[in-house]
Amino acid sequence: MKSKKIILGVNIDHAATLRQVRGGTTTYPHLSHLVKLVKAGGGKQITIHLREDRRHIQDHDVKILCKKSVLPINLEMAVSEEMLRIALMNKPAWVCFVPEKRAELTTEGGLNITKVLTEIEKMTQVLRSQKIKVSYFIEPSIEQVKASAQANANAIEFHTGKWVLSKGVPKQKEWGRLKAAAQLAHELGLRVHAGHGLDFEHAEKIRKLPHLHEVNIGHSLICYSLEMGLKKATQKMRACLQHK
Ligand code: PXP
Repeated sequence: MKSKKIILGVNIDHAATLRQVRGGTTTYPHLSHLVKLVKAGGGKQITIHLREDRRHIQDHDVKILCKKSVLPINLEMAVSEEMLRIALMNKPAWVCFVPEKRAELTTEGGLNITKVLTEIEKMTQVLRSQKIKVSYFIEPSIEQVKASAQANANAIEFHTGKWVLSKGVPKQKEWGRLKAAAQLAHELGLRVHAGHGLDFEHAEKIRKLPHLHEVNIGHSLICYSLEMGLKKATQKMRACLQHK
């Protein structure tokens, strides 16, 4: 049997975190170069999150990547008028609405769609009228999937963080929630995406999720790329230091 192809979106926020860590005074790592490497590796999409506090991705990154990226851009953003304006200006292929708290280390949970239903429905309509596809980052819950269909999203992205971090019975329970929510999403015509905390081990497991179309993976991939690439970079630095 032919195995299904799951789209890999690569989140490069943490490459931007490394670049910004010296107050934005370095130009490396160059995000457009990384996009080309992701494409060469078979990645099909680039995911970036423009946070309110601009801790990693900057406005100019959004502008340049949406214009010049060799892969489609999935722009994660909060449900806000400011972000809507930026999305409409830059026209990414996808917008993924995410919850955002200023002090959080990462996106800690899914968006509560029922709480923002009127706003998100309106924003989704505006974005879709401009041919921008829309997904919502939610917990794998039946209530959230139903609300997402009501607000007319193209897709939902399940927050996999809880499943990744838990063990034993709670992990099995969370997997059950993911499966039931994925099944319902598919029946309601929503594309099924997943992401957060996925590493090599959990990538092998998540591919068994029914109807999974796409995953977005960031932190582990940026960490693995350091482990896999440091030898080559050290060799090049040594070559730079050799007298010719
Ligand atoms: N998908 C969404 C909606 C996210 O907010 C994030 C984290 O920024 C990811 C995927 C990627 O998560 P991680 O960096 O843990 O792989």
